[in-house]
Amino acid sequence: MELKIKTTLINKKTNNSISFKTPIITASGTYGYNNEFEDFIDLDFLGAISTKGITLEKRLGNEGERIFELKGGMINRIGLENVGIEAFIKDKLPLLKEKNIDFLLNIAGSSIDDYIKLASCADENNIKALEVNVSCPNVSHGCLEFGLNPDILHELTLKIRKNYGGFLIVKLSPNTSDIKPLALACEEGGADCISAINTLRGLGINVQYENNKFYKKSVEGGVSGSLIKPSALYMIKQIKQVVSIPVIGMGGILTLDDLFEFIYAGADAFEIGTANFMKPSLASDLAKELNEFIIKNEFKNFDDLKERIRND
Ligand SMILES: Cc1cc2nc3c(=O)[nH]c(=O)nc-3n(C[C@H](O)[C@H](O)[C@H](O)COP(=O)(O)O)c2cc1C
Repeated sequence: MELKIKTTLINKKTNNSISFKTPIITASGTYGYNNEFEDFIDLDFLGAISTKGITLEKRLGNEGERIFELKGGMINRIGLENVGIEAFIKDKLPLLKEKNIDFLLNIAGSSIDDYIKLASCADENNIKALEVNVSCPNVSHGCLEFGLNPDILHELTLKIRKNYGGFLIVKLSPNTSDIKPLALACEEGGADCISAINTLRGLGINVQYENNKFYKKSVEGGVSGSLIKPSALYMIKQIKQVVSIPVIGMGGILTLDDLFEFIYAGADAFEIGTANFMKPSLASDLAKELNEFIIKNEFKNFDDLKERIRND
């Protein structure tokens, strides 16, 4: 099949850019580290994967219930369980290279110093794209602390930029009343791209009545899935009003229509998260559907389609 959806994201101020086979990336935390999903997906139609969030040291994540199912989504409080950067470089990176899988290295830290060390390590290992998570709501300190204050976020982005020459993406949180100053802080600090949104804070409660007694369960964490799509679209539109760098949109993407809605809000590429748990082949299925739509309706390519959706 002729591929019309090759995607290049460019920071027009610096000409820093990255290209993917397709604009559809699997979102961090929902697709492992490298080829775990190889049997379920057509790698020829996968834009890239965003790795599970990597920290400096290995983390075991939160104890207790970590997942709560909702109609139209889920709540998670995984707490950044991951193998740590050293094990990633030693055990996971070689396979990504061998299989030629494009990826964003998603990183998270508890201090500015953590982020600098992770960025330097990515730079030394010639990792092409970094997605900096400053938006995880499920850890007791760090991460989100850096993502909700524009001054701190600006300082963090500047310092990461100094230590990393590849394509720098900062992933923003929706857990704010105004995302615009945060997006601006990233752009002015030297980010090449913004990705949004991470999960939205929420509480899942289940109350059952059995044998004259109420049984209750509650899980507090990050909400994801189609439930959060309206917030994601709103946030992306807000971000696009203030920055000129590209935006990778995510939050509840499931269908081709969702992709069109995200494009109209301002997204230049997409990540798919929660929907992977229902359909692990979705990222490549949607890429094929998008490609077929472009060919059938005689658009020149993905950029042409984006322009038409925004300007018709
Ligand atoms: C189980 C789970 C784990 C996640 N882990 C991470 C993570 O490690 N780093 C990160 O930046 N985002 C993480 N996320 C957030 C997703 O990457 C994505 O931003 C969010 O779920 C919204 O997209 P969706 O509605 O398509 O899932 C996680 C989400 C889920 C559901």
